[in-house]
Amino acid sequence: MKKLMAANWKMYKTGAEAAETVKEMAALLNGTAPEGREIVVFVPFTALERASVAMTAVKGASTGAENVYPAAEGAFTGEISPAMIRACGASWVLTGHSERRHILGESDAFVGEKTAFALSSGLRVMLCIGETLEERESGLLRNVLERQLRLGLKNVPADTPVEALAIAYEPVWAIGTGKTATTEDIVETHAICRELMRDILGARADETPLLYGGSVKPANAGSILALDNVDGVLVGGASLKADSFTQIINA
Ligand code: 13P
Repeated sequence: MKKLMAANWKMYKTGAEAAETVKEMAALLNGTAPEGREIVVFVPFTALERASVAMTAVKGASTGAENVYPAAEGAFTGEISPAMIRACGASWVLTGHSERRHILGESDAFVGEKTAFALSSGLRVMLCIGETLEERESGLLRNVLERQLRLGLKNVPADTPVEALAIAYEPVWAIGTGKTATTEDIVETHAICRELMRDILGARADETPLLYGGSVKPANAGSILALDNVDGVLVGGASLKADSFTQIINA
């Protein structure tokens, strides 16, 4: 399986800024993802079309939206449909990011609806899961991951192509804090996630990429990518600059 190198630009960059960063990435990468790597950059809706056009200069790379509404169209003020995302030239969407769960109040069930609808609309989905520090310290790690995976993957269409789904484990306490989970934490938690994925997804679980996210940077990306059950990384802050994200891609 190729390692999936994902960037999440959150609420950073206008269309012009996003296109510029993608152009810089294209130059640094000589127009292609390195051997054994696939790249996806999740950008704000307002930058999606320009970033997608610029990304056509990088072979093996694509763009994605950071959110989606689970309906084809309708009276949903301020929301964006899968078809609108695809029309911008993007092929992926993030669901269940911890900032949407904890700041915007999205429930596990709503995340599951989005995941299933986006997949049935032909988008590739990266479902994010992860516990808060309080949940980890109260011994709830496994319960939280199980609940988020079961409800997040509920109603995934049976004919979903294997490459259309990825899971990103991001401990909330390691996001934007500079606190990376230890190697032992990552190995232990990814093993739990993989076991739960096998239970929920059956045979396809082993072919479904499981990414780690949370304070990944050029200095730690290589060692994280070498761990068991780590099929890629989802990078926030350190993906905003082309040279930093390119170093991670090449790690
Ligand atoms: P940081 O890499 O800034 O910790 O963010 C991680 C993240 O939330 C990616 O989705």
